[in-house]
Amino acid sequence: MVVNKLKKFDLNGKNALITGAAGLLGAQHAAALLEVGAKVVLTDINQDALQEAKAYLSEEYDQKMIEIRYLDVTSLESVKSVCESLVVKKIGIGILINNAAIDPKVRGNQGVVETSRLENFPVDQWDFQVAVGLKGAFLCSQIFGNEMANNRGGVILNIASDLSVFSPDQRIYRKDGLADELQPVKPVTYSVIKAGLIGLTKYLSTYWVDRGIRCNALSPGGVYNGQDDEFLSKLTSLIPLGRMAEKDEYKSAIQFLCSEASSYMNGQNIVIDGGRSSW
Ligand SMILES: NC(=O)c1ccc[n+]([C@@H]2O[C@H](COP(=O)([O-])OP(=O)(O)OC[C@H]3O[C@@H](n4cnc5c(N)ncnc54)[C@H](O)[C@@H]3O)[C@@H](O)[C@H]2O)c1
Repeated sequence: MVVNKLKKFDLNGKNALITGAAGLLGAQHAAALLEVGAKVVLTDINQDALQEAKAYLSEEYDQKMIEIRYLDVTSLESVKSVCESLVVKKIGIGILINNAAIDPKVRGNQGVVETSRLENFPVDQWDFQVAVGLKGAFLCSQIFGNEMANNRGGVILNIASDLSVFSPDQRIYRKDGLADELQPVKPVTYSVIKAGLIGLTKYLSTYWVDRGIRCNALSPGGVYNGQDDEFLSKLTSLIPLGRMAEKDEYKSAIQFLCSEASSYMNGQNIVIDGGRSSW
């Protein structure tokens, strides 16, 4: 008889909702969960990309296991309406992955004012990015977390970043030939949002613990996505493993954190960064 030693990873019969699921990593999180038997609800504001993500996942997994929904994480009404529509369809969410975020690419605008810099950072960009990355995780946790706490318990996983535990090294974003005040930087919002998600993780890990809700965070390092050679060389020199991550290298961690395999882990932040935070 073959004994399945990995049965604690089994998510058959579980339903998982992923926000920002139409992006680079969202579909990978979904694939990770489908692989171990969960049904996934992919949500995003980009409906075309959602369709594409579903088509991509359907090549390998049963499309009946993949739902898609328009969900704007910044809107309480949008979050509530998706939650209600799933209750009507008897899809009780047991896993919530707060993944949506704005990650503005650091390019440098070669202009008169470099708006990524702290001194010039636009307040409307602060509000917009915090609304997606932090308020969005709060709203989804409020609505889906409460629904899970009232029914079946579950897991909330916040996708943070290695920048939740250390400051961006602004030297890797520098462009030759630009004066210091025109040098682009990783904006302040990204660090604040990701560190804030760790606070939310700790809070949620105790709030509904008596009603079966655990909450953890995953902090990925940067993923290969067409970055230019100069940037890659500067970034990878900061990483002991000497490279960025492939987009599928977080899947095992997703399976662990969303299943009973992590049943005694609560309120923690797993940093997977090729060793960058060790240097
Ligand atoms: N890609 C990386 O290198 C990396 C590294 C560390 C952490 N992360 C984190 O992982 C997560 C996913 O990253 P990614 O690279 O897939 O990003 P991505 O930009 O490819 O995807 C983000 C998705 O969020 C969606 N989104 C934006 N605003 C939204 C809103 N209001 N409501 C719902 N969805 C909205 C976008 O449409 C997009 O599909 C993010 O939290 C990111 O900060 C990514």
